[in-house]
Amino acid sequence: MKILMIGAGGAIGKIVTAALRDHEVITVGRNTGAIMADISSETALESLFKQVSNVDAIICTAGDSITNSLSAMNKAPFMVGIQQKLWPQINLVLSGMKYLKDNGSITLISGKMGEFPAKGSSGKAFVNGAINSFVMAAAQEMPRGIRLNVISPSKVSDIGGDELIAAYIKCLETAINGEIIRVGYNKQ
Ligand SMILES: NC(=O)c1ccc[n+]([C@@H]2O[C@H](COP(=O)([O-])OP(=O)(O)OC[C@H]3O[C@@H](n4cnc5c(N)ncnc54)[C@H](OP(=O)(O)O)[C@@H]3O)[C@@H](O)[C@H]2O)c1
Repeated sequence: MKILMIGAGGAIGKIVTAALRDHEVITVGRNTGAIMADISSETALESLFKQVSNVDAIICTAGDSITNSLSAMNKAPFMVGIQQKLWPQINLVLSGMKYLKDNGSITLISGKMGEFPAKGSSGKAFVNGAINSFVMAAAQEMPRGIRLNVISPSKVSDIGGDELIAAYIKCLETAINGEIIRVGYNKQ
């Protein structure tokens, strides 16, 4: 498969990219990767999909949000989650669904805090919940057999790499659509 791997240079991206070595993986980051593109920009994505065609799958392991106590949060840290994790992934789906091959697959990333928040996680939790909801809704409207799913991992240091990789393979190779794949929820 030809796979666009957004965030390949990150903690999760490195694990997933290494596991996909039998595929043609094109790595993308803002400042790292074979192709540099900021997925929050519609123009950057249009340019990315002009450079890379016939893509079978897109995996996104990119995105930032803020951890801090609720009393220390205000508009700016909440907006980080929206502008750096939620919108970029929605933007990626809106562009990707135009350019992916028929029956292609898009896999986003959220996180356990969306469903099992700890203190200090409001800035993360609301973004993860929104990404999960977006995927469940948008998956119903994907064109040309394209599937959309989301991986929701626990802290990567708490989960086995094998479990994480199995979740990505499931999204790539099975018919699932609109699913939240929870990884490592029963640890810690
Ligand atoms: N690590 C964990 O334990 C964990 C657990 C649950 C959920 N998550 C979620 O999983 C995602 C990845 O986490 P991580 O720890 O692997 O993050 P990370 O180490 O910071 O890596 C993020 C990667 O994404 C790229 N990136 C970020 N924003 C981008 C953008 N707008 N356009 C293109 N590339 C972008 C970065 O490369 P450049 O700097 O070159 O852009 C980097 O390679 C995050 O959303 C995080 O909330 C992580």
